[in-house]
Amino acid sequence: MNVVLLGAPGAGKGTQAAKMVEEFGLPHISTGDIFRKAVADGTALGLEAKRYMDSGELVPDEVTIGIVKERLQQPDCARGFILDGFPRTVPQADALGDALASMGRALDAVVLVDVPKSALVERLTARRQCRACGRIYNVLTDRPSVDGKCDGCGGEVYQRDDDTVGTVTNRLDVYERNTAPLVEYYRGRGLLRVVDGDRDPDDVFVDVTSILRGE
Ligand code: AP5
Ligand code: MG
Ligand code: ZN
Repeated sequence: MNVVLLGAPGAGKGTQAAKMVEEFGLPHISTGDIFRKAVADGTALGLEAKRYMDSGELVPDEVTIGIVKERLQQPDCARGFILDGFPRTVPQADALGDALASMGRALDAVVLVDVPKSALVERLTARRQCRACGRIYNVLTDRPSVDGKCDGCGGEVYQRDDDTVGTVTNRLDVYERNTAPLVEYYRGRGLLRVVDGDRDPDDVFVDVTSILRGE
């Protein structure tokens, strides 16, 4: 199953992806996670990506596309993959289609996690994440049992640098401008499936599961 998770910042792409990994055993490819790891490791890619991420702008297409193409060649993607946060622009979507075609593959579904904009700022500013395993929390709705410590691995639970009110506002604008057009792009190709993401994450996942099972 070759799946793209589409949705605004805070829609719950990472939350649903974690459930999909557990249920379907597919690799989760999040370009945001790849960039955050590069920043943490202090690599050249990290230095470049940080300039854009801190203000909520997109990392340039030529950088991002190359990384994803290479990742899709890895053996663990042979059975399928979950792309989260990619593509985010029409050129990225075109490049993904071309890359898959050259591998004799294609997307099976693009799942739009649909959440009203009014809910997103609160979700994002309340989000916390484990620095070690990436597990996602929320200080309002899903706190770790011990403050600042991951239930899963004991790692440090922190707030992402781009989850401040100012940066979140710009990220939502950037989404509307650059990424929202992909909804029509994929609808026109017959791939778009919409799930109502403004419900309990487990209820959202019931719908995601039926899409992946082809129901
Ligand atoms: P990225 O890491 O992809 O961030 P994003 O798209 O802004 O999405 P988020 O990770 O913020 O939200 P999410 O949908 O995963 O929500 P989550 O599940 O965590 O990108 C970061 C940056 O990297 C970009 O700004 C850009 O600079 C760069 N970048 C990345 N990819 C790029 C690309 N392709 N091209 C160029 N640049 C790129 O949930 C959010 C919160 O809500 C959590 O607290 C969670 O607990 C809670 N929550 C989740 N689901 C629910 C629910 N159903 N009900 C209530 N609360 C919920
Ligand atoms: Mg995410
Ligand atoms: Zn952890």
